[in-house]
Amino acid sequence: MKNRSMMQDIEKVLVSEEAIKRRVCELAQVIEADYDGKETLVVGILNGAVAFYVDLIKEMDSFIEMNFMRVSSYGGGTNTTGNIRILYDLEVSVADKHVLIVEDIIDSGVTMKNLKKLLLDRGAASVKACVLLDKPSRRIVDVDAEYVGFKIPDEFVVGYGLDYAGKYRNLKFIGTLKPEVYTH
Ligand code: PRP
Repeated sequence: MKNRSMMQDIEKVLVSEEAIKRRVCELAQVIEADYDGKETLVVGILNGAVAFYVDLIKEMDSFIEMNFMRVSSYGGGTNTTGNIRILYDLEVSVADKHVLIVEDIIDSGVTMKNLKKLLLDRGAASVKACVLLDKPSRRIVDVDAEYVGFKIPDEFVVGYGLDYAGKYRNLKFIGTLKPEVYTH
């Protein structure tokens, strides 16, 4: 029996595959110009950032070091700055390095704010962030990414790294799910 297609669950495409590809190229160029040959430690935040991370670094021509972290935010209610728990840590030191965090999305901002602070506290020479998606209307802490692919409204989105219940991360675009998918 053929597996059910992910496409059947999609209500609409919010950011197309073509738009993502174009924007990823633009971001890579801007980042390379800003870093101007400085070797960079590019930190991908698992799992959501994987698709974006891989496409972004392949558009760069400068020397980079790759490393990954997995964190979960907790205590992030609407009136707290929350905190993060490290589930998988970097395998290298960030001391005196220029660090670029690559994330799929900034939502409340709790994860990014804590990540930036953590890496600066560990002695990074600089810490910037590149996110594919930004939901500014959801922010509960004061933090931003220096490089943003797309600002999007407060809709639940999946694809290109983003999941619902662990699924849809391997879609080539960003889309919304049909309401009935949530009620299954
Ligand atoms: C998502 C996303 C960010 C974080 C953003 O991760 O990848 O890390 O949430 O939310 P915030 O701005 O409200 O902190 P998630 O914990 O869902 O894990 P995943 O990357 O494995 O999907």
